[in-house]
Amino acid sequence: MNKQFDLVVIGAGPGGYIGAIRAAQLGFNVACIDEWKNGKGGPAPGGTCTNVGCIPSKALLQSSEHFEHAGHAFADHGIGLRDLSIDVKKMLARKDKVVSQNNDGILYLFKKNKVTFFHGRGSFVKAIEGGYEVAVGEETLTAKQVLVATGSNARALPGTPFDEVSVLSNDGALRIAEVPKKLGLIGSGVIGLEMGSVWRRLGAEVTVLEALPTFLGAVDEQIAKEAHKAFTRQGLKIELGVKVGEIKSGKKGVAVEYADAKGEAQTLVCDKLIVSIGRVPNTIGLNAEAVGLKLDERGAIVVDDDCRTNLPGVWAVGDVVRGPMLAHKAEEEGVAVAERMAGQHGHVNFNTVPWVIYTSPEIAWVGQTEQQLKATGRAYKAGTFPFLANGRARALGDTTGMVKFLADAVTDEILGVHIVGPQASELIAEAVVAMEFKASAEDIARICHAHPSLSEATKEAALAVDKRTLNF
Ligand code: FAD
Ligand code: NAI
Repeated sequence: MNKQFDLVVIGAGPGGYIGAIRAAQLGFNVACIDEWKNGKGGPAPGGTCTNVGCIPSKALLQSSEHFEHAGHAFADHGIGLRDLSIDVKKMLARKDKVVSQNNDGILYLFKKNKVTFFHGRGSFVKAIEGGYEVAVGEETLTAKQVLVATGSNARALPGTPFDEVSVLSNDGALRIAEVPKKLGLIGSGVIGLEMGSVWRRLGAEVTVLEALPTFLGAVDEQIAKEAHKAFTRQGLKIELGVKVGEIKSGKKGVAVEYADAKGEAQTLVCDKLIVSIGRVPNTIGLNAEAVGLKLDERGAIVVDDDCRTNLPGVWAVGDVVRGPMLAHKAEEEGVAVAERMAGQHGHVNFNTVPWVIYTSPEIAWVGQTEQQLKATGRAYKAGTFPFLANGRARALGDTTGMVKFLADAVTDEILGVHIVGPQASELIAEAVVAMEFKASAEDIARICHAHPSLSEATKEAALAVDKRTLNF
């Protein structure tokens, strides 16, 4: 039977489910299709982010951070502990509960907003007069407009598929049943550092092999250097400039042959290997060919600045299109597309999309890095303030890192803010607001910030742009 909607959304990750809700708020009759299954075969909307990404990784980062604090930081506070242990099974069960709470939350939101949810794989059938037919299971849905938000999958090393037992993607990395003695990671990007931190804190000996000669190349160099120092101090072994060769995996573990930065042959033997070398856009099963939906050479759906595809009435957002693979970027695009469908002026400012790496110290930034400003020849002023000089950070016992401001040399407009240190993920929001409002560094420097708070380091870094810090 044909079911008619104004909009069919394919994929209920952050791009799809948020886009569906916004469209429903704007008065559209919306269907959202998602195929993700929970452990019992039931629906698990939320996509990569909720099921095997943002949410479960942060749950494990939290558990492992508690464990590390209990083992290393509590003693400083006079808190004694005997027989500290980690029950990995319980930790994973807690993580799974957090995930299912989020799945349920999305199903509730669909009900509340009258979005009709279909569990299964959505595929284009054909273009019809004034719209499209999309199949899901036995049903055929028709709609004037379609929003594709089918996300991305982990990229495997050529010749080394994920078996999720020894060679793990982000999926397997989030459900290792016991702490491995030796854990190898390929790629020192965001997943490598977050997952490496989780398992190192729990006792694994972690080695990260990275192809590039620079550490976190997209991050401001000064911040990346500070983070590298902190991770190395914690015991994360990061080898840069390597060339990964053959990988052999068997019952006893994994052996990774590689050439180190000097070109010398090495072998890394580990119990588990996480491969985190980026992600690829996902259009598997979408049947894009049936309607002539255009993909680029990377397999991403080609869209314009407004997320319009080559087909009238078909839009695409999130990881399956160009741009950073971030949940909040996908969400913003989903909202903007729904508003454009309604004739409004939905807008996403790519210059103010924040990045956060949830390690300890956290790394967060928005806007341009110092190396980018140098490369474009833009005249800028820089100001930094270390957490070492911040009273709240001292009270927390976490004084690693700094806040850094980059502002235009003439107008003082904030061009970038970079933070490595405690609560960087929360502190960056002030910088995003400031940049959205085209604030100057002086604007932040003149705002009253609560004392004692980490946010005073933000104010002080803004003052540092004009060389007038008060506490350093
Ligand atoms: P997805 O979340 O991938 O959702 C796509 C959905 O579409 C899936 O549910 C899939 O099953 C479904 N689907 C695909 N094809 C079909 C089809 N044909 N029919 C029906 N359903 C289909 N980003 C952050 O911003 N912050 C973080 O802290 C963060 N942490 C991460 C940690 C890890 C380990 C990983 C892997 C990623 C992380 N990300 C994070 C990235 C974030 O998860 C993605 O950017 C985000 O999920 C993209 O959203 P999306 O809606 O485009 O796609
Ligand atoms: P990434 O792009 O962050 O990092 C991949 C790293 O692997 C790079 O440093 C790259 O140089 C390296 N690499 C590539 N090929 C290699 C090879 N053959 N040998 C050795 N190193 C190699 O990708 P990652 O970590 O897989 O994460 C994917 C994406 O998921 C991120 O880019 C991000 O968009 C998203 N994500 C976001 C998070 C957050 O916002 N906190 C957390 C985790 C993921």
